[in-house]
Amino acid sequence: MMALLELSNVTKRFGGILVTNCLTFGVDEGEIVSLIGPNGAGKTTLLNLITGLYAPDSGDIIFAGQSLVGREPHDITKIGIARTFQTLRLFLNMSVLENVMSAAFPRTHANMAQIVLRTPGFRREERRIRQMAEEKLAFFGERLQGYRLDQPAYSLSYANRRRLEIARAMMTEPKLLLLDEPAAGMNPNESLEVTELIGKLRDEAHLTIILIEHDMSVVGGISDRVIALDHGEKIAEGTFEHVAQHPAVVEAYLGRKKTGKLTPGPAPQAERGGDL
Ligand SMILES: Nc1ncnc2c1ncn2[C@@H]1O[C@H](COP(=O)(O)OP(=O)(O)OP(=O)(O)O)[C@@H](O)[C@H]1O
Ligand SMILES: [Mg+2]
Repeated sequence: MMALLELSNVTKRFGGILVTNCLTFGVDEGEIVSLIGPNGAGKTTLLNLITGLYAPDSGDIIFAGQSLVGREPHDITKIGIARTFQTLRLFLNMSVLENVMSAAFPRTHANMAQIVLRTPGFRREERRIRQMAEEKLAFFGERLQGYRLDQPAYSLSYANRRRLEIARAMMTEPKLLLLDEPAAGMNPNESLEVTELIGKLRDEAHLTIILIEHDMSVVGGISDRVIALDHGEKIAEGTFEHVAQHPAVVEAYLGRKKTGKLTPGPAPQAERGGDL
């Protein structure tokens, strides 16, 4: 059986620097694959290559049998790949519900004239999108429900903003979801909830997931397979236990962070906001 996503010999340079070096790996349908590696290893670049923000210098990326190379990002979204960003991209002054509704745009059928004139067709479409947004938000239990739907995104805690970003990604109804550090800045309880949420996205929303995460409790808790990168190269692949103990991985973390530890535990806390 062919993998849902297949990267073969993908290479990307910025200036003279090799940021992705001849990477080859596949992701099967229903799998959760984590990408780990020190800062600057090339993890986010890889997501940018898959989603069409950058084109590889050489190599191919095949999704569900079609090459993604040379396609526009919106086209790649349409064929079933969605992502979240390491630095959140929410509309802070818009409500929680509006943030999620606005993510449906690539899938709406209304044209600009219908939107401006608010024709009956557009209003029907809007009702459909609202219902879909409410369904996606319901996935997150009580956290993004009730009165929170109408609150501006800026009033949400950091953890809830990260959940909202995932809800936005779900609006394009992807088959493959790419998560860039979904647990960044979360405390251990919140990280555990994110781990459970990622499992639920696979089991109930039937998504295939590529996860980038520095929090090893999340990676160890949910990954079917782990791939470690350093300087854009794959240095280890396998189960979390295998990769976490791999000498090349320990060395990569030792060299950069000088802590030498790759044990399950929360990542450093980023700046956090509180629910208003
Ligand atoms: N658009 C760009 N132009 C030039 N260099 C870039 C660009 N994007 C990324 N890089 C470089 O590519 C390398 C890999 O960056 P990338 O953001 O992919 O790392 P990362 O593994 O996601 O790191 P982190 O864990 O800090 O998020 C870094 O050296 C970075 O400076
Ligand atoms: Mg990154």
